[in-house]
Amino acid sequence: MDKFIIHGGRNLQGVVSVSGAKNASLALMPATILAGGTYKLENTPRLRDVMTMMSLLESMGIAFKFVDNSLTVDSSNITNYEAPYEHVKKMRASIYVLGPLVSRFGFARVSLPGGCAWGPRPVNLHIEGLKKLGADIQLEGGYIVAKARKLKGARILFDISSVGATGNILMAASLAQGATIIENAAMEPEIAALAELLVKMGAHIDGIGTSRIEIEGVGALHPADVTTIPDRIEAGTMLIAAAIAGKPGSKVRIDRCNPKHFGAVTSKLEDAGANLTIGKDFVELEPPNEIRPVNVTTAIYSGFPTDTQAQWIALMSLAKGTSVITDTVYFDRFTHVPELMRLGANITLKENVATVIGQETLTGAKVMSTDLRASASLILAGLAAEGTTEVLRVYHIDRGYEEVEKKLQRLGADIERVAGEEF
Ligand code: EPU
Repeated sequence: MDKFIIHGGRNLQGVVSVSGAKNASLALMPATILAGGTYKLENTPRLRDVMTMMSLLESMGIAFKFVDNSLTVDSSNITNYEAPYEHVKKMRASIYVLGPLVSRFGFARVSLPGGCAWGPRPVNLHIEGLKKLGADIQLEGGYIVAKARKLKGARILFDISSVGATGNILMAASLAQGATIIENAAMEPEIAALAELLVKMGAHIDGIGTSRIEIEGVGALHPADVTTIPDRIEAGTMLIAAAIAGKPGSKVRIDRCNPKHFGAVTSKLEDAGANLTIGKDFVELEPPNEIRPVNVTTAIYSGFPTDTQAQWIALMSLAKGTSVITDTVYFDRFTHVPELMRLGANITLKENVATVIGQETLTGAKVMSTDLRASASLILAGLAAEGTTEVLRVYHIDRGYEEVEKKLQRLGADIERVAGEEF
């Protein structure tokens, strides 16, 4: 596995462009199961998770051509309706094949994901939703085996708003017989993007982007082309990088993004003292003279994203005062905390609440993480720390950030990837 070596304290300034959204791509790609043919998914990020989804779909008979960020998908010859454990254990988003497979082919065999680095992350809502649509679902040898002659529309209320379960039911219901209503649906932009693709494919969907989605099933869908939305979490991460490492008076511009998708993060950055100029597809940030402590509680969209919680804790480690960060979406997602403390952060963790007493400085050290966003938070801390920080197991960063070190280098960061050794 590669590692990053960061010499902290360099100023960040300049322009950086945001890539396509990982969590949109991971939903758009399996949607191609629903109708055989050729699709073009533009602005697809070249990420390890996207490659993992490609190899899963390839194992089913789907073919890909990836040129720059343009992904051509040919789903004409699907012959295998299974997602093996080897794929699903690498990436939980593999569960997205379940709904489309059972809806189109009447059969799916998908491994249960098992535990995740930061907690249980169940898939009960996916299973219960598909059962409501009439699928017969059995758990056999660690696999979900779903069968259905023809799915039938139903009213589904999710007890918890779930991105993945909403996506799975959206795809399944698009080919079901009759109407489906999803209450307490996920409103995340990545789910709206999936719904937009389904509409282009001929699906009838109302209430896109709201918590109540109505789908009138159709007999067949057809292929379509789409441009993937920009990654709001990458945009937020880069802004927090600029706030933590940029020197007062400098400016970082985040281009090719949709600021409406991360208003919670820009709002909190302003509270922390950053000066922001927000355009239609860009945000400019001038770092604060002094980082003010700002409490954050994560929530479903359009609240503060759990996927930016770790990065926020890194920023607050250098605030002038004490802040409280609560994760209400994932209670255990704090693997970055002990590692940030190795850099000198003062954090007390009690259940899902982190109390951060801001320090004057952080100091470089060797750190590592087994989680994507936690790794991002360690990089941000390393950029601001005095001395040298080594972030081990960069594998996790490569799952969700396209060329992160090159983008940071362009802003002036001293960050280098050291490849090919076992760290
Ligand atoms: N939940 C259940 N049962 C289920 C499904 C979810 O109890 O069947 C719970 C979860 O345990 C969690 C909450 O519902 O407490 C929300 O989970 P959700 O299903 O919305 O998460 P997800 O679909 O598994 C996606 C993103 C995550 C992101 C979450 C929350 C993808 C591929 N992944 O996961 O992204 O954190 O939504 O916004 O879209 C990341 O990019 O780093 C990442 C982890």
